Amino acid sequence: MAKQNIYDNETFFDGYRELRYREVNANTLFEIPTLISLLPNLEGKRVLDLGCGMGEHCVDYVNRGASRVVGVDISKKMLEVARKENSDPKITYLNIPMEDIGSIDERFDVVISSLAIHYIEDFKGVVENVYSLLDEGGIFLFSQENPINTCYTSDHPRWTLNEDGVKIYANIANYCVEKRYDSTWFVDGVQKYHRMFSTIVNTLADAGFKIQKMAEPHATKEIVDKYPEYYDLYHKPDFLFVKSIK
Ligand SMILES: C[S@@+](CC[C@H](N)C(=O)[O-])C[C@H]1O[C@@H](n2cnc3c(N)ncnc32)[C@H](O)[C@@H]1O
Repeated sequence: MAKQNIYDNETFFDGYRELRYREVNANTLFEIPTLISLLPNLEGKRVLDLGCGMGEHCVDYVNRGASRVVGVDISKKMLEVARKENSDPKITYLNIPMEDIGSIDERFDVVISSLAIHYIEDFKGVVENVYSLLDEGGIFLFSQENPINTCYTSDHPRWTLNEDGVKIYANIANYCVEKRYDSTWFVDGVQKYHRMFSTIVNTLADAGFKIQKMAEPHATKEIVDKYPEYYDLYHKPDFLFVKSIK
């Protein structure tokens, strides 16, 4: 199945890196706090991070007591930063697509993936491999773009605005058409795979996982008072988290 490696595109990489180095972004305000709130106790645990990017989370897992962390990413550029800025004797970075984790000859207690699953065409294959790599009672926790957003293309306006330019409706189209959608983010042609909520949950259940918790972080009054641009998130969440157990 197809695999795009857009993070190795120079323009994309530079744009993404600049965004992540900002003090305030959707990751720092919403994604990372929710991920941390859903983490199991990592003391002495073996952790696999799928789509680990620049490795910030891998170091965080070591700091939370993980005995071993394997970070997997398809992008050489992202791993170059990870190895330079976030290395640790307990961490191994592997430059392989997460579709190939079946080749890893290790067992894990926790598999985590932060904002990478929507780039995967073969979600079922990845979920089945994660299930095989986990010991009994192991946790699979991932975040992805919320399915409400992954069917978006550049062909239709994402928002209906009122006469003052305020976003009053999110425009959803083709939610029930599961396929690859190409959108523009730093560059044209960024490929994401749209799956309905029910498909995501059923794929996990069919593989044998039990869902423990889901989360869709959204704006709070405190955040909107401080950062009014995040008012959007009262209309729809950006992210979806699913935590499941083997
Ligand atoms: C939005 S970044 C998130 C990085 C990191 N997890 C974080 O939260 O900081 C998505 C990452 O997924 C990686 N990725 C995309 N497709 C992948 C694939 N098929 N296999 C492994 N990694 C992939 C990208 O290279 C990128 O580093």
